[in-house]
Amino acid sequence: MFVTFEGIDGSGKSTQASRLYECLSGIFGKDMVLLTREPGGWSCGDMLRGLLLHHEWRSWSEFFLFMADRYEHVHEQIMPALSNGLVVICERYIDSTLAYQGWGRGLPIEEMERLFSLMSLPVPDLTILLDIPIKTAMDRIRSRRAPDRLEEEEFLGRVRCGYRHIFERNPQRIRCVSSDKDKDEVFTEIFRLVEAFMDESRRRR
Ligand code: TYD
Repeated sequence: MFVTFEGIDGSGKSTQASRLYECLSGIFGKDMVLLTREPGGWSCGDMLRGLLLHHEWRSWSEFFLFMADRYEHVHEQIMPALSNGLVVICERYIDSTLAYQGWGRGLPIEEMERLFSLMSLPVPDLTILLDIPIKTAMDRIRSRRAPDRLEEEEFLGRVRCGYRHIFERNPQRIRCVSSDKDKDEVFTEIFRLVEAFMDESRRRR
């Protein structure tokens, strides 16, 4: 099973993805669950992540760097884990590129999607989209550290709007959860969705 977490910066993806990892590891065993993230979740990923976040790239260069990071990540980590029957939990994936580079930077969505399928990128079975108002997200980011170059308010507004469109176009895969509330409540909702998805998959088999 391939589960991704999506949402704007400060929406609580890392917290919720780690909780899901702990919970599913308790059920299936730690060696049966992989928690990973983009950008950077593969052997040379930290190098590329540093490059991506701390340099002002032109939009297509940024897009291709994210795609190079993803292709390595998919082949080195995600696909081997999925073929060995692991549950893969990934923070950010293709929807981040559509929301940030597409809606945020204005690159063409359909062309990007065509490239995803040309690259045979596996499609997640379930995507949890954490939705939060921009102001709350910005307050959360600022309380932790100085915002990085992709965390400017107006830009994040476009990205959030993009996520809403992506959600509307993929109702069978994406579940939207409001993360503007207590972390435990958010997790309860997420776990219910994951359980329902697993039950449904078992019934279909
Ligand atoms: P993230 O790991 O969520 O940031 P942090 O842990 O520093 O809060 O993601 C890093 C940034 O990369 C985030 O602003 C979103 C951006 N991003 C894209 O613009 N496109 C992509 O395809 C991906 C995977 C991330």
